[in-house]
Amino acid sequence: MGSRQHGQDPKHGLPLSYRDDVSAYTREYAEALDSQDPLRLFRDEFIIPTKKDLKRKVLARDEGEDESSAPKCIYFCGNSLGVQPRSIQQYIERYLRTWATKGVTGHFVPHEDQLLPPFVDVDTAGAKLMAPVVGALQSEVAVMGTLTGNLHFLMASFYRPTKEKYRIVLEGKAFPSDHYAVESQIRHHNLTPDDAMVLIEPESTDSPILTTEQILKVIDDNASSTALILLSAIQFYTGQYFDIEQITAHAHSKGILIGWDCAHAAGNVDLRLHDWNVDFAAWCSYKYLNSGPGGMAALFVHERHGRVDEKQADSDDTFRPRFSGWWGHDSKTRFNMENKFTPQPGAAGFQLSNPSVLDMNAVVASLEIFDRASMAAIRQKSLSLTGYLEHLLLTSPLDAAAEDNKPFTLITPSNPHERGAQLSLRLQRGLLDSVLSHLEENGVVIDERKPDVVRVAPTALYNTYAEVWEFCQIFLEACRLAVRSRGV
Ligand SMILES: Cc1ncc(COP(=O)(O)O)c(C=O)c1O
Repeated sequence: MGSRQHGQDPKHGLPLSYRDDVSAYTREYAEALDSQDPLRLFRDEFIIPTKKDLKRKVLARDEGEDESSAPKCIYFCGNSLGVQPRSIQQYIERYLRTWATKGVTGHFVPHEDQLLPPFVDVDTAGAKLMAPVVGALQSEVAVMGTLTGNLHFLMASFYRPTKEKYRIVLEGKAFPSDHYAVESQIRHHNLTPDDAMVLIEPESTDSPILTTEQILKVIDDNASSTALILLSAIQFYTGQYFDIEQITAHAHSKGILIGWDCAHAAGNVDLRLHDWNVDFAAWCSYKYLNSGPGGMAALFVHERHGRVDEKQADSDDTFRPRFSGWWGHDSKTRFNMENKFTPQPGAAGFQLSNPSVLDMNAVVASLEIFDRASMAAIRQKSLSLTGYLEHLLLTSPLDAAAEDNKPFTLITPSNPHERGAQLSLRLQRGLLDSVLSHLEENGVVIDERKPDVVRVAPTALYNTYAEVWEFCQIFLEACRLAVRSRGV
């Protein structure tokens, strides 16, 4: 392939030359793409499980076993749980030392060798690094709590049903936690989900994609009775990336507030929550943001909703109603204990409790990598990496039996601007178990949704084109074997 510079195909996010280049099916080609990848050095900043790690029945490695040279698994599951940034250990050690040697004074006293500010200020450090990841002002973001909990807190503020406008529009196949959260919010207001929940269902089960037109139509059909819309930025099952800007503008044109669950979008695509005028959003940090299982989540409140000096329609307060706690109170007077709630401006005023500093260290350690890499560069590589995966999956030759009757179909949109890193593949019925066991035997980590879907997510920060190439060899072989064994 030499040193040719690839132009980008704007529709598919692929270097233009992939399409007609038979050498694209070779490992050398993939390795050449890796050598041109401006983000390639970031891989070393993560601990990718080795194949041996995954097989071992205990956590400890054998004596003399060297993580750096052992063959790594192919980890395409950052959409579920990101791998561990190496730096997290140092952040957490420093935190443990601060707590051990300074006790309560660690709350206020800065130290020359600190990685995070004193405990009382760690939330600010989190918001500062999280804001650019989602295209927000720092004041619009708070790193706090958990995703489902934050959705509830945000709905407590943004879902204020009236007799006329009381419905919530969401996807029929929303992630179950979002569905339950909405359902319980509706019940909390003594309304019934049968009446107040409007579910947007895909038009066909074969193609579970929701077109923008369909979403806008459901909004139009329910505009006069809808108080709130809650959608996912990227659909967890199909990997579809919705047109946040257009849908948000449309909701606003009908006088409806709209919030976005960005669990599968934060750290994956270059969101612009502020510019797109999103009312609120929430996301977790353990997927593409690599902060560890159950790591601290985050929320976004657009600056126009975070003001603390605006007379409210239905109360004497000068700020949006919300569920409050002392950490949302003005930080200058928080410790005066006067029991008169005066929120901090912005998203910080939606905080309730003092954050877990242990947890925040993991979030900040990971976000610091995003800060150096930039979401624009991550998205650019991701478009190309996932485009390469799609190209190999859909155009590599299978054997004759499978060729006439493809063992899988892509359910994620083929337009790269309507998806992030993840491709969801639907296998023919009966192939899933066999395919999964072949992948596992060969050290591939992906995620499945029974009965027939696998979700494959190469992650720009730590996955390579060579891994995409190798994954395709293993996956296509798994399909061939599964088809053959079903055929006999
Ligand atoms: C889209 C979406 N919403 C909500 C959740 C629930 O997250 P949590 O358990 O962190 O509240 C998840 C978890 O994977 C998710 O993918």
